[in-house]
Amino acid sequence: MLDVTYDWDRARPPTTLSFFDQKWARRLDPLCFSGVWRFHELLPFAPPEKIVTIGEGQTLLHDSLGVGKFVGMQPNRLFLQYEGMNPSGSFKDNGMSAAFTHARTIGAQRAACASTGNTSASLAVYCAVTQFMKAVIFVGSGKIAYGKLSQALDYGALTVQIAGDFDDAMARVKEVSEQLGIYLVNSVNPFRLEGQKTIMYRVLEAMRWDPPDWIVVPGGNLGNSSAFGKAFMELRELGLIDRVPRLAVINASGANTLYELYEHRGLRWNGGRPSMEIANSYYAELDADSRRASTIASAIEINRPVNLTKCLRALDFCNGVVREVTDQEMLDAKAQVGAGGLGCEPASAASVAGAKMLRAEGVIGPDERVVCILTGHQLKDPTATVAYHTTDQEQFNKVLGSRGVKRAAFANRAVAVSNNLEEIVRAIQLYS
Ligand code: F0G
Repeated sequence: MLDVTYDWDRARPPTTLSFFDQKWARRLDPLCFSGVWRFHELLPFAPPEKIVTIGEGQTLLHDSLGVGKFVGMQPNRLFLQYEGMNPSGSFKDNGMSAAFTHARTIGAQRAACASTGNTSASLAVYCAVTQFMKAVIFVGSGKIAYGKLSQALDYGALTVQIAGDFDDAMARVKEVSEQLGIYLVNSVNPFRLEGQKTIMYRVLEAMRWDPPDWIVVPGGNLGNSSAFGKAFMELRELGLIDRVPRLAVINASGANTLYELYEHRGLRWNGGRPSMEIANSYYAELDADSRRASTIASAIEINRPVNLTKCLRALDFCNGVVREVTDQEMLDAKAQVGAGGLGCEPASAASVAGAKMLRAEGVIGPDERVVCILTGHQLKDPTATVAYHTTDQEQFNKVLGSRGVKRAAFANRAVAVSNNLEEIVRAIQLYS
């Protein structure tokens, strides 16, 4: 795995983070408006004239009282970083603008990715808006939520549906890109991670450059967690922060490779020499039992995360922890996020469910400042949301019951009435 490193003596980054405050006054310049490129000095791998931006990163750090209460925090201690506000509706646009910038510097014509849906939606949007490259996307058949599939199709990407899951699609796309010379934008591409570092810069910016105590993030392919760790490593090295937040990476229990390896089998960064034997023997077990990732959170339905080692580095630097949460826990957390507005897709709610678990364990204190990353927009996966709130038991069982979800404790059920004014009025009086 390659990593981007900088010669900071030559790059000359700013000496304080408040340097970035002045950028907003120049927001008519797209490089100052972008939530990625207004931090260009901290990802200086391309000259300004090569930068590709479609206005990504206008995202919000939202102080959520309701979700904070659900998690068990004191008021004003739980924040949601809402990455659903990106152009394609997920955090992936942060990394995609960086990958496109690099692709432009080398003159790539076609770009490919394997995806559980958000990377592909993001790639498709950037191709459609910029017209720099043609998109080829690989998805596992039936493994992608409808909102995301509809984006790839609508934006005109060549969509290859593989009879397999994400892990299969990832293996194939690596082979195909090598064979056909297509630019690969999965997070094995180190430039993607450079863009994703900026999510942390925006969190710090919103907190007036005072780092929170915890960053809680869902873990799938582990690009985000790796990028967050790198962001803090560099900020520390540059003397721009004096305190590093702790990192909590949350797996779905049906796709829990990192949790298993880190919390049960003792896999560690180990000064840059992690024991890959531990990981490989676990993968051999998965193969021997034909075990596949399985969770309602299709975004993180991944058993072989490509950024595993970089994530171990991040966990090491940020004194991290890993947890797994069930589909039930994720969906209940998702309903709580939705009830406060700014809803999210199931995988994103892993961060909130994980924070609640860590709070209950006492690992997170009630008055610590916690930031949960909401990685994707609520509209990405309408099937899961509607099934949670439905009154149709058959639909509930089909979508959720089959995954071990038993209750919908926070469901907001629609009220069925006949097409009759009196009955409608009665129903409104009864329920409001
Ligand atoms: N949340 C959402 C909504 C995602 O789409 C993903 C990953 C993750 C969390 C996990 O992030 O991979 O950085 O650990 N989605 C990828 C995709 C795999 O293809 O869209 P990670």
